[in-house]
Amino acid sequence: MRHSTFRQLEVFDAIMRLGSFRKAAEYLFLTQPSVSMQMKKLTEAIGYPLFEQVGKKIFPTDVGRELHKTTREIFDDLARFDMTLADLKGLKRGSLSIAVVTTAKYFAPGLLGRFCERFPAIEASLKVCNRAHIIERLVANEDDFYILGQPPEEIEVDAEAFLDNPLVPVAPRDHPLASEKRVPLRRFAEEPFLLREPGSGTRVAVEQLFAEQGVKMRVRMELESNEAIKQAIMVHFGVSILSRHTIAMEVASGHLSVLDVEHLPIARSWYIVNRKGKSPSLVASAFRDYLREYTARPGAATA
Ligand code: PGA
Repeated sequence: MRHSTFRQLEVFDAIMRLGSFRKAAEYLFLTQPSVSMQMKKLTEAIGYPLFEQVGKKIFPTDVGRELHKTTREIFDDLARFDMTLADLKGLKRGSLSIAVVTTAKYFAPGLLGRFCERFPAIEASLKVCNRAHIIERLVANEDDFYILGQPPEEIEVDAEAFLDNPLVPVAPRDHPLASEKRVPLRRFAEEPFLLREPGSGTRVAVEQLFAEQGVKMRVRMELESNEAIKQAIMVHFGVSILSRHTIAMEVASGHLSVLDVEHLPIARSWYIVNRKGKSPSLVASAFRDYLREYTARPGAATA
């Protein structure tokens, strides 16, 4: 059977339904010798006759009837697959798995939520981990897309920037430096610094800035999350450099302030990333198109 073609099965099905080689040939726009040739090959592949001729009429053998049942099942499955494909193309259903770095959790749920409102039957999942874990997931190809603050250099990826992500110096509202202008980085570095955990993209960017400027920071404590750092700043434990996305609420409510420090903010962007050459599913490419459309709208750059 391995060598029979889909075309042979199609011809066989037409003969079974229409009752003659001639009618099958007309139906499929083939010549009668070509229909006979296809059936000869199919019969050889199976090793048993599929039809017997009585007078001018042909009748299926037992093997022919069994093959017809199987052929119908194959054609029905294919018809179902066609419908599934049409559904997916219309994005009536499907699934989407996005994994984002911890800092992106401040805007990614909103983006995904609005996408799901547009396509309600899509099942979406959002994983949140630090940069090191996201890169592990990316290498293992576990999700449809990844959102990171910097595309990884250790593996080949397709990356597209879609939103600004400035990293800003943060202090308590009543910090003595809060009212000063253009504070030198060296002066800011004298304050006790609250640093993200190893593996954090924010930490990589912060360490890079201090190294480039030849300034040493006084690390008071390493904390695993932006939330923990914000709480520690509010109780005057120190200062930090965080993505502006993480502090919108605390700045608006007056609990935290953004300082004016030289060489800051660190200008970064959010990137949608995938392994180089991976072709996204229909749902995943709709999500990427949605991101492009969303971030092209006025005011999105700092959303
Ligand atoms: P992080 O990543 O949440 O792991 O710090 C943020 C970023 O890469 O900008």
